[in-house]
Amino acid sequence: MPSRSEDFLKELDSSLLSFVGAGRVKSPIDELGARRFLFITGKGGVGKTSVSAAIATALAARGKRVLIAMPHTKERLSAVLGTKPIGEDVVECQPGIWAVNIVPDIALYEYGLMVIKVKTLTNAVFKNEYIKAFLRAVPGMYEWSMLGKAWFHTTEVAPDGRPRFDVVIFDAPATGHGLDMLRVPKVILDVAPPGVLRRDAEQAVALFRDPERSGIIVVTLPEEMPVTETIELVGAVEQELGMPVLRIIVNGLMAPLFDDRERKALTSQRELLTLAAADRAAKGVRASIVAAARRALRETVQRDSVRRLLTTRPERVIMLPFLFDDASTRAGTVHLAEVLGAPVIAGRGGGST
Ligand SMILES: Nc1ncnc2c1ncn2[C@@H]1O[C@H](COP(=O)(O)OP(=O)(O)OP(=O)(O)O)[C@@H](O)[C@H]1O
Ligand SMILES: [Mg+2]
Repeated sequence: MPSRSEDFLKELDSSLLSFVGAGRVKSPIDELGARRFLFITGKGGVGKTSVSAAIATALAARGKRVLIAMPHTKERLSAVLGTKPIGEDVVECQPGIWAVNIVPDIALYEYGLMVIKVKTLTNAVFKNEYIKAFLRAVPGMYEWSMLGKAWFHTTEVAPDGRPRFDVVIFDAPATGHGLDMLRVPKVILDVAPPGVLRRDAEQAVALFRDPERSGIIVVTLPEEMPVTETIELVGAVEQELGMPVLRIIVNGLMAPLFDDRERKALTSQRELLTLAAADRAAKGVRASIVAAARRALRETVQRDSVRRLLTTRPERVIMLPFLFDDASTRAGTVHLAEVLGAPVIAGRGGGST
């Protein structure tokens, strides 16, 4: 099992690497760190939070000030970073890493305070139950209260005149809801009258569409369905929303144990791959052969799905290893951050940006 990024890269299937290309280029993290806003999305449970934490850890190690914003989630980020639970206030949970779990009602209130500027008046408006219910029912307001707050943090300035955060990472909801959220600023532009809300939405859309300043990162697993959905999602984001998909992160890659010939030999024996075979071969040599056949099948699926992504978007794919021991721990996050920070094999066709 690889313990370091270099080992992981060495152990990756050599033919897969030759498919990707041979040259070593700068690490993906330099490219991600050049953006002000990163929107991390993908199917449920593919590793969005783990990846957000790993990117933040790698960027903080390079001296960046990073904020991870979560949209009102049952947060797991604190476990992944090894810190105290993260709530509605922006807190520095590790050197260089701040985090916040955005609560829509509170975010709307803060927004109201910024717009109205008079606390008593804001209280009268935003603490009024009827108005709260009304705001929740306005299409997109709930989503905008969270995405808009995350965007707002990109505009904040520290006392020394520099941006308060170099990079804001938005650990977005799973695919469908993530897309809905990205549609919201455009909806506001279509319906809102001129005013602060419209001005902010305009600026947010401009940021999200600017490939130099912002990027969407789609996280996926090296499996058939997630990869199919990822290819569809990337198409929808680019064509419908006109927003750049900066990277596709394939999370949970296993270092291959078998070469092409061994994989073919093991998976050609279909009887080894049935559930009954696993039950019958509870222990002994037979059990090892059944386990090897299953692993070979998984490696075949992984290889085919990664190849599909590399065929469509070779220059944008980043691969992260499956963590056998340290998933959801600070050690695992540091490991993934090291992989992101290591120089990588360039996509076919060379350059990474
Ligand atoms: N590289 C990895 N290796 C092994 N396990 C991983 C890896 N990345 C994530 N996991 C595990 O997968 C599970 C889901 O990870 P995570 O919470 O980061 O996903 P998510 O996409 O944020 O999920 P949700 O959609 O629920 O927010 C967790 O149990 C995590 O420990
Ligand atoms: Mg998550």
